[in-house]
Amino acid sequence: MQRINASIGFDRKLWREDIEGSKAHAAMLAAQDIISADDAAAIRGGLEAIEAEIADGRFVFKTELEDIHMNVEARLAELIGPAAGRLHTARSRNDQVATDFKLWVRNALVRLDNDLKALQGALLNQAERHASTIMPGFTHLQLAQPVTFGHHLLAYVEMLGRDRSRVADALKRSDDCPLGAAALAGSPYPIDRRNTAAALGFARPSANSIDAVSDRDFALDYLATGAILAVHLSRFAEELVLWSSDQFAFVRLSDGFTTGSSIMPQKRNPDAAELVRAKTGRIIGDLNTLLIALKGLPLAYSKDMQEDKEPVFDAEETLALALAAMTCMVADMKVNTDSMRRATDRGYVTATDLADWLVRTLGMPFREAHHVSGSLVKQAETRGVQLYDLSLDEFRAVHAAIDERVFAVLTVEASVASRTSEGGTSPARVREAVAAATTRFL
Ligand code: ARG
Repeated sequence: MQRINASIGFDRKLWREDIEGSKAHAAMLAAQDIISADDAAAIRGGLEAIEAEIADGRFVFKTELEDIHMNVEARLAELIGPAAGRLHTARSRNDQVATDFKLWVRNALVRLDNDLKALQGALLNQAERHASTIMPGFTHLQLAQPVTFGHHLLAYVEMLGRDRSRVADALKRSDDCPLGAAALAGSPYPIDRRNTAAALGFARPSANSIDAVSDRDFALDYLATGAILAVHLSRFAEELVLWSSDQFAFVRLSDGFTTGSSIMPQKRNPDAAELVRAKTGRIIGDLNTLLIALKGLPLAYSKDMQEDKEPVFDAEETLALALAAMTCMVADMKVNTDSMRRATDRGYVTATDLADWLVRTLGMPFREAHHVSGSLVKQAETRGVQLYDLSLDEFRAVHAAIDERVFAVLTVEASVASRTSEGGTSPARVREAVAAATTRFL
């Protein structure tokens, strides 16, 4: 029973929040004359001593005391005697654990936001440096149209911005303090729930005592936010793996984030990026674990809910590590601008620019222009040359009205420079977007 029942092996991580919650509770009990000022002072002193013991690694956690709440309370009794028994007046472990865990998750959300911001900062640095670095843009992983590398990186800045807005939403939604709900029905003592809510940094006490001890939405919000973020990181990690391969050679990851092979001396494996890609599975698993643990639980508290913590702790450690690794990889990566540029010399990436020119200069309907451009691509393909290598006669053989002005739109430089629509890839727009994102996010 002890082995299946105890949570101290993992919930010791809540020690700071548990002590913070108890201090606020004891102060409120004294302010409401539910316990004496002397007892409250003794409780506070004892809790501070325990805080120091745990911080210094001197505290002895005991499995037979089941969880962090009873470990702290038992030690308090050793330190201050019978007054310790008054701390649990008008409180239950049900509202206590909900409060501790919510406080912990709120702190974790703040840390997550900081980590996301750091990664955005690293991406913005590289985006600014590479606002006019040309690379092929892809759809279906086929060469599509030229874009700038800065523009591509800014796509991730936006994704992370949405992740941060989910973090902010989660924080807003977790602003109700469960403390004072007691076991589930509320308390017969004249407690002041607004006092403890404010002391712990919450906006208000939770409105319904049954909901307060049953609710783990704040943990689900954390994990759902983390799962979406992890999917973003894995898409980026996958691009780093592709880009750092010899076939692409778009970036060179620093030695610190690659490993050699025990047999092939030339290898530079992008292990850190691959691990970020794989750890996504863990985080999605953490979300599933908690969704499934909560599914079908009757109100109010059931012991199943003790299983809420490990997935959140695991996700938090994993996300912190993955974000730190990505931030350093982005900051350190060397961009191979020549091979990015060279990669645009394949695949007729300006075929759309040619069609657009036919529309704008000759007034051709886009569908027909698409067809004409396609015929010219076929011709270039047959000869094994680029569109701009075709002669004016060859252009005219396909459509008589084409003139020499067409050559001006066939280079990748002209193509990206022309994409000046809002949110587009032209270097001028990208520089603007970097400045705007810096104001919005940093
Ligand atoms: N260790 C428990 C948990 O983490 C604390 C709450 C216990 N409450 C109870 N009624 N047994 O959920």
